[in-house]
Amino acid sequence: MIKEGLFITFEGADGCGKTTQISLLDEYLCGKKIKTLLTREPGAGMLGARIRELLLNYEGSISPNCESFLFLADRAQHVDNMIKPAIEKGTIVLCDRYVDSTLAYQGYGRELDIERIKFLNNLATSGLKPDLTIVFDVDVETSLSRVGGNRDRMESAGVEFFNRVRNGYLEIAKQEPDRVKVINSSDTIENVHKKVVELVESL
Ligand code: TYD
Repeated sequence: MIKEGLFITFEGADGCGKTTQISLLDEYLCGKKIKTLLTREPGAGMLGARIRELLLNYEGSISPNCESFLFLADRAQHVDNMIKPAIEKGTIVLCDRYVDSTLAYQGYGRELDIERIKFLNNLATSGLKPDLTIVFDVDVETSLSRVGGNRDRMESAGVEFFNRVRNGYLEIAKQEPDRVKVINSSDTIENVHKKVVELVESL
């Protein structure tokens, strides 16, 4: 694939503030007349929306393996139909969650085999990697208090699970320091936004 645009992903545990930050970055880039695609996983597109509904609201139990494959199916459709075509057209794609979510949540959180998740991610995305990934890091108590009491299926997984997810993200950042940058998101929205802009401009 000839890469014309850029691919930036936003990651972190539920309640880390990344969704606010991705919107602020999108506004900032649009203000500079830069063409962006703001998208998310799971749930972009019509098929994605149906998969998202299953993942977040299905009332029966879903095995960790099945859960992984549903996230991966959503991703495969998203990459082929939206992300790759946008990058090829020179757009800056801003994606709220991507491969590192599956590594952090299903790999570290659900304790599935990390190498296997990497292999499956690679298969689902045909190897498409982000140019930059920003992990918004905040302690689990703060992030879960931001989520509040009305929790979906994933958000109900418990404190131990979210500690593993957080440590998973920090481990991923340690392993791929060139691609993955960690920002402490317990700071003010404005300060975190400034750090995001610095990282994106350094690209
Ligand atoms: P969402 O409401 O989009 O959460 P957030 O606003 O925090 O991104 O729900 C997505 C949930 O799915 C979230 O709990 C993280 C989880 N998830 C995984 O477990 N694995 C994945 O591969 C992805 C993309 C998300």
